Amino acid sequence: MMSGKKRVLLCVTGGIAVFKAAALTSKLSQSGFDVKVLMTKSAAEFVTPLTFQALSRNPVHMDTFNEKDPEKIAHIDIADWADLVIVAPATANVIGKIANGIADDMVTTTLLAVTAPVMIAPAMNVHMYAHPAVTKNMDTLRSFGYTFIEPGEGFLACGYEGKGRMEEPEVIVKEAEAFFSQQLHPQWKGRNVLVTAGPTQETIDPVRFFSNRSSGKMGYSIAEEAAKRGATVTLVSGPSSLLDPPGVTTVRVTTAEEMYDAVISRYHDQDLVIKSAAVADYRPSETFEQKVKKSNDDMTIPMERTKDILKELGERKEHQILVGFAAESEQVISYAEKKLQSKNLDMVCANSIVDPGSGFQSNTNAITLIRRDQEAQSLPLLQKKEVATKILDAADELFEERDKR
Ligand code: CTP
Repeated sequence: MMSGKKRVLLCVTGGIAVFKAAALTSKLSQSGFDVKVLMTKSAAEFVTPLTFQALSRNPVHMDTFNEKDPEKIAHIDIADWADLVIVAPATANVIGKIANGIADDMVTTTLLAVTAPVMIAPAMNVHMYAHPAVTKNMDTLRSFGYTFIEPGEGFLACGYEGKGRMEEPEVIVKEAEAFFSQQLHPQWKGRNVLVTAGPTQETIDPVRFFSNRSSGKMGYSIAEEAAKRGATVTLVSGPSSLLDPPGVTTVRVTTAEEMYDAVISRYHDQDLVIKSAAVADYRPSETFEQKVKKSNDDMTIPMERTKDILKELGERKEHQILVGFAAESEQVISYAEKKLQSKNLDMVCANSIVDPGSGFQSNTNAITLIRRDQEAQSLPLLQKKEVATKILDAADELFEERDKR
């Protein structure tokens, strides 16, 4: 996932959500982070330190005065070790203490000594969360530069329903990944990126439509990766069963015409547009109001061309970097090169849909990146998430070239 393991210090404080912190430890480790856990005594009332030790494969610290290594002062050593600190679950108590500089246990003493960024994921009763003292303490911490992973709404262990439930471990892991990704790719902050994904559906009658096998996975992966790097991302998606990617504004459309409107109306504000959607080239010339009944042995449906969105973007290009996709079953490179020219693109991501493991539906893809005046760059068969990072790395080079001009 990343070169050299990034070090995450997880501070676990006492609330019922400690059980979620165990899952968080496991998911952070699985995502390639080196994780160390500090617990308060009340956290250990809910889940034992042994659980966290096994999941993090590192010793768990709870007591400031239990100095295991005389060479080091544990809380300073651990504070210096961390690249990122996550407090999850964070009780009202620990939020109050750190906002006021109180250091009376291993967690709070270490937090005072930490210079790395700190993310706080609160978990508490809905009324406690709304208490002005908690709001004030959170504002104080924000002014110190701490960030909050706000709790979600839902059923709370105390029986109430509302805001106070610790955010899900998967979301917290994504926040941690985004933090490191943004450190690595600071240039993406402030870039507006529009991605299209999925198929379109062209209506025949109230129950039937023409469509294609696109799943949307490639475009969703690109949108998610761009957001992780800190860009402001809009995803215009045709019908897809995938969930909206986190941190992305997702606009759902059905037909090629709707996708055209959604993309063209946002085009001017974009720095980069990546058109990975499999837009229908034709649609029925007529849409039937009522279900078409069978009659003859054969049937013909007259079709007409849809608007070529990408071609129009190429014609209207101002400052934008424009990336298209070309799914071909033969002469992949030469057909893709033609698209680069005819649609006035900066890059084409070409793939052969007949290669095994590549293209529609699959989780993997083997593409060739084709840019102007450059040798085609063939990528091996990769997970679509990895392909997304390669496409954005190539886009980075296009930004550099553009800025030189
Ligand atoms: N595209 C588009 N609007 C359309 C059709 C395609 O924006 N109405 C975009 C796709 O999102 C993709 C690229 O154009 O980025 C694909 O190019 P296209 O020429 O449509 O590919 P094919 O449909 O495969 O074309 P051909 O029939 O010429 O092979």
